[in-house]
Amino acid sequence: MRRSALHLPLRFLETVRKPKLQEVDDSWAHSKLSPSEIDLWANLSSADRHHCISVAKNVEKSLPNDQVVIKAALLHDIGKSEASSSALLRAFATIIGFFISKELAHDWMNSRALGREVGQYLCYPSVGAELLKLAGSDPFVCAWANEHHFEQQNWTVDRNLGRILEEADEKTNWKLRL
Ligand SMILES: [Fe+2]
Ligand SMILES: [Fe+2]
Repeated sequence: MRRSALHLPLRFLETVRKPKLQEVDDSWAHSKLSPSEIDLWANLSSADRHHCISVAKNVEKSLPNDQVVIKAALLHDIGKSEASSSALLRAFATIIGFFISKELAHDWMNSRALGREVGQYLCYPSVGAELLKLAGSDPFVCAWANEHHFEQQNWTVDRNLGRILEEADEKTNWKLRL
């Protein structure tokens, strides 16, 4: 696993805690997105939107003029819009993910019942990248959605930008502990 061991438990807590999404923040996100991206955004749960907005605002502090990178932060978890928002299912899928290959998870997406739900959650980065391609998003935004849980050596995106995005994502999770 590329992320710190605490990343997933902290994201789990964030999902359970269901932080309140402020309208002003959601409007801020809308102002950064194209109409087709807003359609995707609207399908994301409010807990996931809250997380993505926090990450994007962290990125904006480092790169206030880089709208593409801010957008990549906003949309990095967009594939979760196609997956269950149940915290328990996500936790269960995450544990299963340690034991099965990416290919098997992909096959499960086309299966039924629980297997399908688990597969959809485990494959959300590649699902998100496909949704963004169809929405006409910038190639960097599509690539980051797909690669944001990859090891750094497997990134195709600029390493410096990837690190800023990754740190913002991690920082958002750590904040929960304060
Ligand atoms: Fe993610
Ligand atoms: Fe994230």
